[in-house]
Amino acid sequence: MATAELAGKHLVLGMTGGIACYKIAELTRLLTKAGATVQVVMTEAATQFITPVTMQALSGHPVYTSQWDRRVPNNMAHIDLSHEADAVVIAPASTDFLAKLVHGMADDLLSTLCVARDCPLLVVPAMNRQMWQNPATQRNVAQLRADGVEVLGPDSGPQACGEIGDGRMLEAAATFEAIASFFAPKILRGRRVLLTAGPTFEPLDPVRGITNRSSGKMGFALARAAQQAGAEVHLVAGPVALETPWGVIREDVQTAQQMHDAVMREVSGADIFIGVAAVADWRVDHASEHKIKKTADRALPTFTFVENPDILASVAKLPNPPFAVGFAAESGDLEIHGEEKRARKNVPLLIGNLGPLIFGLDDNEVILFEAAGATKLPHADKQMLAHTLIAEIAKRLPTRA
Ligand code: CTP
Repeated sequence: MATAELAGKHLVLGMTGGIACYKIAELTRLLTKAGATVQVVMTEAATQFITPVTMQALSGHPVYTSQWDRRVPNNMAHIDLSHEADAVVIAPASTDFLAKLVHGMADDLLSTLCVARDCPLLVVPAMNRQMWQNPATQRNVAQLRADGVEVLGPDSGPQACGEIGDGRMLEAAATFEAIASFFAPKILRGRRVLLTAGPTFEPLDPVRGITNRSSGKMGFALARAAQQAGAEVHLVAGPVALETPWGVIREDVQTAQQMHDAVMREVSGADIFIGVAAVADWRVDHASEHKIKKTADRALPTFTFVENPDILASVAKLPNPPFAVGFAAESGDLEIHGEEKRARKNVPLLIGNLGPLIFGLDDNEVILFEAAGATKLPHADKQMLAHTLIAEIAKRLPTRA
């Protein structure tokens, strides 16, 4: 999950006391892997849950826990540590620490550093359901938001105390996504993006069907990049085994007809439609209600096919269509088929997959087809490419009246 947004960023990762400290080990690994420098600062309470030695080994930097640390020659740890930081991230952020932030308290290294910082502050709350719902906590969170603090999460679900509800810290991967999202340029702020991704599944009977080998990776990467660019993203996904990108609204469908109907329900108000799904062109006219059995005379089953709706073309035909973008994978002559397909579907932009028709890869190389001509983009991993494509789409968006 390499992400361009975090490469070269300098983060102060402040840990406060809570069982969710175990998630920070993984978060640190994800952040450093993405190229960020992570300076861990822990409160005394945090060190009761995970040791500074663990955090030092994972971050590759000495961990600070005290204002009086002798390693800082000028005794200005609270200033020095956040001096070059692009952001301070408090994860997990305890009930107590949120309250301290609201009041600007400065009675340990981490709280003093937060007051003394001149960079953005992100907090990732982690607490029991009742502590989260407590009116004082809710007031504190509202005040932090009003003060410009970014509040990431919390999540909902089973908690360490055995209760179920809001308050648990986002998982490490979701926290990572949310931090990456914070740093992405908001080139699609205020825009709505609708996408399709993955294959469709057209049943023959209750257990069999026709599908294809689309992994959904490119569509999901684009959904994630659009969300990180500030858009409100609705993703209509065929059957794929992929995690929903953080902050994206996902709707699962099976068939092309269901995908078409879901898109038509959501399309009004969308600024951009990106058809990444490998939609089945045909379905069986009448899928059998019962499992098709072999007969005594071994007669082979026959099927009559009918054409599925073309989702992309239907969107492009709407009276007031969003900026519609298609994808095409061809087994040859992409330059010819790409432009022909773009014109036939009447979309301003079609993205052609260069290279062999191999599904499930993590990288890709594409050509952009548009009325003005074709442009080849450099080979890149799908997430990087998704950011580039979102930037290319944003450049071409008509300005709003
Ligand atoms: N598409 C769609 N609905 C369909 C078929 C395709 O929305 N029923 C969209 C795809 O999501 C993609 C684009 O159309 O964005 C091109 O898909 P492709 O399968 O390459 O196009 P087809 O029209 O099916 O052409 P071909 O005969 O090459 O399969």
